[in-house]
Amino acid sequence: MNWLSSLGIFYVISLVLCSILLAYSLGKLRNKSSERLLPPGPTSWPIVGNLLQLTQLPHRDLASLCQKYGPLVYLRLGSVDAITTDDPEIIKEILVHQDDVFASRPRTLAAVHLAYGCGDVALAPLGPKWKRMRRICMEHLLTTRRLESFARHRAEEAQHLVQDVWTKAQTEGKVNLREVLAGENGQRQMDDTEIKALIQDMIAAATDTSAVTNEWAMAEVIKHPHVLTKIQKELDDVVGRDRMVLESDLVHLKYLRCVVRETFRMHPAGPFLIPHESVRATKIYGYYIPAKTRVFINTHGLGRNTKIWDQVEEFRPERHLPADGSRVEISHGADFKILPFSAGKRKCPGAPLGVTLVLMALARLFHCFDWSPADKLRPEDIDTTEVYGMTMPKARPLEAIARPRLSSHLYR
Ligand code: HEM
Repeated sequence: MNWLSSLGIFYVISLVLCSILLAYSLGKLRNKSSERLLPPGPTSWPIVGNLLQLTQLPHRDLASLCQKYGPLVYLRLGSVDAITTDDPEIIKEILVHQDDVFASRPRTLAAVHLAYGCGDVALAPLGPKWKRMRRICMEHLLTTRRLESFARHRAEEAQHLVQDVWTKAQTEGKVNLREVLAGENGQRQMDDTEIKALIQDMIAAATDTSAVTNEWAMAEVIKHPHVLTKIQKELDDVVGRDRMVLESDLVHLKYLRCVVRETFRMHPAGPFLIPHESVRATKIYGYYIPAKTRVFINTHGLGRNTKIWDQVEEFRPERHLPADGSRVEISHGADFKILPFSAGKRKCPGAPLGVTLVLMALARLFHCFDWSPADKLRPEDIDTTEVYGMTMPKARPLEAIARPRLSSHLYR
């Protein structure tokens, strides 16, 4: 009897497995029919898809897939259709030409739990709710007038940053730049859930992205002392040594702007843009993209794409100096070769503020202090491994020695 029931269970399990494999093979055959030709990509397994092929640094895995299969790759994350790219033309197709199709967000468990049931701006699917929240952001919170009205507070914050480093340099010897740059992570409670979701977005989007970018910039500059010398020469020429850097100086700091651009190329704040999702089926360069496909735009891969950049592992800000002497744009150019703030409907509404925060902190820190690695390390020993997450910080916090270079009354 026992033997018979075991045999029964064995048959049932075999039948289920065969049906799954059959459905999977049929699905694959259907997808191969010419009008539903999916983009190339790695073979995926039933149920798990390509999930087991990803490591702890998925942005690097997906960039390798793009190198192997071409600029647009299809994969399956469990049962979810996904595409990934690190190519400027395809990114432009997704974010500009087909913005209407790809401007939604997937409704993931993380988004539901972290963002008040997707009731925020950043993780909300396309729809009237997102539109309303985004309008509040653009028309009330992040307007040029409002940004200007907070200039004095930003100047005070910049002075606190300098004072903090100055005190630590006098008392502790070395400075932990992650602690200093992360600053205060204020959390405010308000009654209305929508307001809470929005404020949470603002705080998360503004603090972590800027702090991560600043730490990477500091690490690369301390690793390349000739870059620090050039930055300081520019600061001394534009600002002099008798006063602090002001926001109005930032536009004239061409070389520093190139440093920030180069930092975004090598270390974008997030390895991918926030995942987009297609609202309906479409085609990209003749390939079929099903509805609800998750889109991973690999900004880390874009900055290290050897088809568009030379010597991708080399930190060389000069590569961004425009030959015609024009202004150095930080967010992105028409060529989509770097994309720190994205483009299209979902582009970062805080880009002007983000650029100012990053430039101002760096300008003050390089103007006020000379920097060298802590613990008697050589500059070239500074470690630049990253950890993966929504943002992508250095694996180990940066520690450095700061030596004041201006008269001491300016630091108080
Ligand atoms: C260095 C600083 C910053 C960087 C690198 C950055 C980058 C980004 C990126 C890559 C996205 C995703 C775009 C996409 O999915 O296509 C984004 C979205 C967003 N950012 Fe920023 N950001 C920065 C600062 C800020 C600041 C200061 C604010 C506001 C105070 C802000 C608010 C937002 C919001 C609300 C979204 C979601 C937009 C939407 O989904 O409609 N960001 N940002």
